[in-house]
Amino acid sequence: MEKQARIYVAGHTGLVGKSLVRELNKKGYTNLLTRSHQELDLTRQIEVERFFSQERPDYVFLAAARVGGIGANSSYPADFIYENLMIQTNTIHSAYASGVKKLLFFGSACMYPKHCLQPMNEDNLLTGRLESTSEPYAIAKIAGVKMCEAYNRQYKTSFICIIPSNIYGPDDHFGSQDSHVLPALIDKFHQAKINNFDSVIVWGSGNPRREFVFIDDVAKAAIFLITSYNGSTAINLGSGENISIKELAMVIKDIVGYKGELIFDNTKPDGAPEKSLDATKIRKLGWLPKTSLEEGIAKTYLGYQTAVKLSNNEAETGVKKI
Ligand SMILES: NC(=O)c1ccc[n+]([C@@H]2O[C@H](COP(=O)([O-])OP(=O)(O)OC[C@H]3O[C@@H](n4cnc5c(N)ncnc54)[C@H](OP(=O)(O)O)[C@@H]3O)[C@@H](O)[C@H]2O)c1
Repeated sequence: MEKQARIYVAGHTGLVGKSLVRELNKKGYTNLLTRSHQELDLTRQIEVERFFSQERPDYVFLAAARVGGIGANSSYPADFIYENLMIQTNTIHSAYASGVKKLLFFGSACMYPKHCLQPMNEDNLLTGRLESTSEPYAIAKIAGVKMCEAYNRQYKTSFICIIPSNIYGPDDHFGSQDSHVLPALIDKFHQAKINNFDSVIVWGSGNPRREFVFIDDVAKAAIFLITSYNGSTAINLGSGENISIKELAMVIKDIVGYKGELIFDNTKPDGAPEKSLDATKIRKLGWLPKTSLEEGIAKTYLGYQTAVKLSNNEAETGVKKI
């Protein structure tokens, strides 16, 4: 990827997009194209086509999506399937039509079957039923991967797909309905600590096992792959560290410094029993994550504290930082 290439980071205000912009700038890629959701709604086909034909990006990181945890996926299944299908369909097709050299699409580990052999490898896609709460989101993501494969086959494009495990980092969504388990737990423990709560309730049994990958490692891997990987099949991006929600909660509790009790609410859904990615393929290409879970959570907690301070200042002054 040439340093002067026009690189469109779709979703640059999100967790992944922000980190991609930071890493690309650090590496000397200065010709970045960005549009906020308000400036360009990627669900609107005509607007997306106009953007691509006017701006002619050379490379695209497709990190715009409707993303959320179990709660949001259960409450808004229609939005999750509709918005994701529209965003990716419009972007992938316009990238092809305007001659983009390379596009990287972000899939998700939810695309793997609920009862998939662990660790899940790329060949396991479409080999079984999906987890029901995230099915609409997962179906959209699978469609994105298959669309990239089909365009590569028919139009000889170079559209690659990565399948990250759970991503987390300082710019995460904390305490909202859109938050994933790790940032949601940071918020819960912090709130419990400052309010002196006796206990914290964690959704589900605590038994499911999950894998987490720190955001800066994801951005570095994405840039590494867009510059070095030309395969048409999706590629897993995992940390190799697999941990139960109970163990994760204990690590976060320690880092936040909360002294109370942990209660697991078995009436809430657990999701898939285990999700760990087989990262053999990406390791063979030469990529390794650099951030341990403890280090990443400590950085994420700092990010959370900064976000809390900012929103407290906004509440006091009535001035919203944008
Ligand atoms: N986070 C994870 O754990 C995880 C794990 C695996 C895969 N992924 C994948 O990684 C990618 C990035 O996820 P993320 O965590 O960075 O999500 P995120 O923080 O929610 O960011 C999503 C970005 O997409 C933008 N966006 C949403 N709808 C849009 C629309 N209609 N038009 C234009 N922009 C729109 C958002 O802007 P607004 O905020 O203004 O709407 C935001 O900038 C997604 O494809 C996701 O599926 C994420």
